[in-house]
Amino acid sequence: MDIEFVRSRFIKHFDGTTGSVYASPGRINLIGEHTDYNGGFVFPGAIDKGIMAEIKLNGTDKVRAYSIDMKDYVEFGLNEEDAPRTSWARYIFGVCREIIKRGHKVPGFNTAFAGDVPLGAGMSSSAALESTFAFALNDMLGLGIDQFELAKIGQATEHNYCGVNCGIMDQFASVFGKAGSLIRLDCRSLEYQYFPFKPEGYRLVLLDSVVKHELASSAYNKRRQSCEAAVSAIQKRHPHVEFLRDANMDWLKEVKEEISAEDYMRAEYVIEEIQRVLDVCDALEKGDYETVGQKMYETHYGMSKLYEVSCEELDFLNDCAKKNGVTGSRVMGGGFGGCTINLVKNELYDAFIADAVSSFKNKFGRDPKVYDVVISDGSRKLL
Ligand code: GLA
Repeated sequence: MDIEFVRSRFIKHFDGTTGSVYASPGRINLIGEHTDYNGGFVFPGAIDKGIMAEIKLNGTDKVRAYSIDMKDYVEFGLNEEDAPRTSWARYIFGVCREIIKRGHKVPGFNTAFAGDVPLGAGMSSSAALESTFAFALNDMLGLGIDQFELAKIGQATEHNYCGVNCGIMDQFASVFGKAGSLIRLDCRSLEYQYFPFKPEGYRLVLLDSVVKHELASSAYNKRRQSCEAAVSAIQKRHPHVEFLRDANMDWLKEVKEEISAEDYMRAEYVIEEIQRVLDVCDALEKGDYETVGQKMYETHYGMSKLYEVSCEELDFLNDCAKKNGVTGSRVMGGGFGGCTINLVKNELYDAFIADAVSSFKNKFGRDPKVYDVVISDGSRKLL
């Protein structure tokens, strides 16, 4: 993404002056999917794609926002009843409201922003947008909000203004990202640890199915409800269980007859997935990428057959990886479309990509997109 480009649009759409420029990234996640809102572990990293925004206080109580990509302009006030209808603007509005709810004043500002993180591809374009504005307003207004609270402001924006009851992973990764490192986060205690990730002889690549599921947010919220139903049943016998993280398969089996078959499958996936993150961390410490890859395939199976958040295109890309001897592959992010993340040996990379692209095109009549992963820094001020 180009600062000069964003700046030129800011100058053109407002009064010819310049402001400050901020950026926040999207994320990948090596393993640990749908575990964050279950108090489990996740293992994300920020990427070299994200959102960039130029911002300047405008001396009014209105926000004037221009989306460079959508060529769309929206103006709104910052009281609850001023909520804009335009979906991209609701993210900015939500971030401002969440900051105000925490006792701060947010004055009006002008902003123009652009992004290169693909929308709806499971790389958290919305978290990148939220983190950009949370980080920028905190910095410009000297609010002294800590990094975790910035991530929580983004998450609360999703809950309260965008209808997605997401966990903390995406906003956390966007704010805390560090070039060259993945981050293991314990979503119950919020303890985290950076893991330098430079797998000798391997590459990480994303294959984007370019499938966007319309109902993704309601299906996502439904998954969360299934997990909560399983927790409520387990709690009756084991009162200290607050999240699926605190449970185990034996306790889940005890309540098998008391919950629906669907809720059981969802909970089974989550309990196994939480353990897989820990197994992957152990394997990484030993440089054992074969085990890392095997766990990624297990995650894909679980997300496809138990959690049911895959789709035909993603299953196809996963099979394609297997057929090409790719070390690990799985659907990444919330699912229902988006990307697979693939851990592939350098020498197999070209043949895998060529085969995946051509066979996907044969079957579905369009090209998947290919993104090489560069693990990058989190939210920052550029200018
Ligand atoms: C989305 C949510 C995250 C997380 C993932 C699945 O990206 O925003 O909180 O639950 O799905 O791991």
